[in-house]
Amino acid sequence: MSDLLVYLNNEYLPLSEAKISVLDRGFLFGDGVYEVIPCYQGKLFRLDDHLQRLAASLAQIRLEFSLSSEEWREILKPLLDISIDQAVYLQITRGVYASRDHAFPCEIQPTVFCMANPIKPFSGLQSGVKALTMDDSRWEMCHVKATTLLANVLMRQEAVEQGCAEAILIKNGFVTEGAASNLFAVIDDCLLTPKKTAELLPGITRQVIIDLAKADSWCVKEDVISQSALENASEIWLTSSTREIIPAVELDGKSVGDGTPGPFWHKMNTLFQQYKQTV
Ligand SMILES: Cc1ncc(COP(=O)(O)O)c(C=O)c1O
Repeated sequence: MSDLLVYLNNEYLPLSEAKISVLDRGFLFGDGVYEVIPCYQGKLFRLDDHLQRLAASLAQIRLEFSLSSEEWREILKPLLDISIDQAVYLQITRGVYASRDHAFPCEIQPTVFCMANPIKPFSGLQSGVKALTMDDSRWEMCHVKATTLLANVLMRQEAVEQGCAEAILIKNGFVTEGAASNLFAVIDDCLLTPKKTAELLPGITRQVIIDLAKADSWCVKEDVISQSALENASEIWLTSSTREIIPAVELDGKSVGDGTPGPFWHKMNTLFQQYKQTV
């Protein structure tokens, strides 16, 4: 195991020495939330947006834990490397208790874990990837960035086993998001993404793209996308902090547009890469 420096409950230690109890509620119940924050050459990207989403996730699962942005910066500083790009992972669980009980214990001592792993550009970024639609079988609180990711894991695995990079999830005939990404479609020269509801994670990358598109006077709509509208989209993108903006060039075995990353993607990827340099 790599001896990456990690943070666990007020201590910095090598990853190989970071241990939690088998009674941690994160391990037993997936009772926790997390964030993944890109860090470009030591600079945390949209940290405050990530921390706001973290606070919202904690509130939704009724886990009382709060640190200021400055306190988080102090915790994360020793893990950051200014010579590379990193994905900062932070996880908070409802902690360790003497017995396994679904109901919350009276007193909470959360487990806090942080690590930063190098990120390299995703291999499908320039060429585009294949995607597969599947039924969104997840729970009704997908706006919470919860560590309970079993449905997402199984759907991504199914996609990968079928030679695809991502599963696109469909609920009652409408797109929600990817197994670990948000979705954008270009339809009639307008950029569409499903609006924020409890059925999808409010992605930080998603919001950056909406802001950049609006600032550049694009037609942008946050609206429903039916599966049939998706099938006729000229471009489909999958967005996330670690993969950025991935063009899907094949959907369920059929070409999207002409089967190559489209002109809107080229423009947005340029805007996004430029924006990254400014923060
Ligand atoms: C289910 C899901 N939706 C959307 C996203 C994209 O969110 P962000 O852009 O904040 O990384 C992720 C990220 O991992 C995700 O897991």
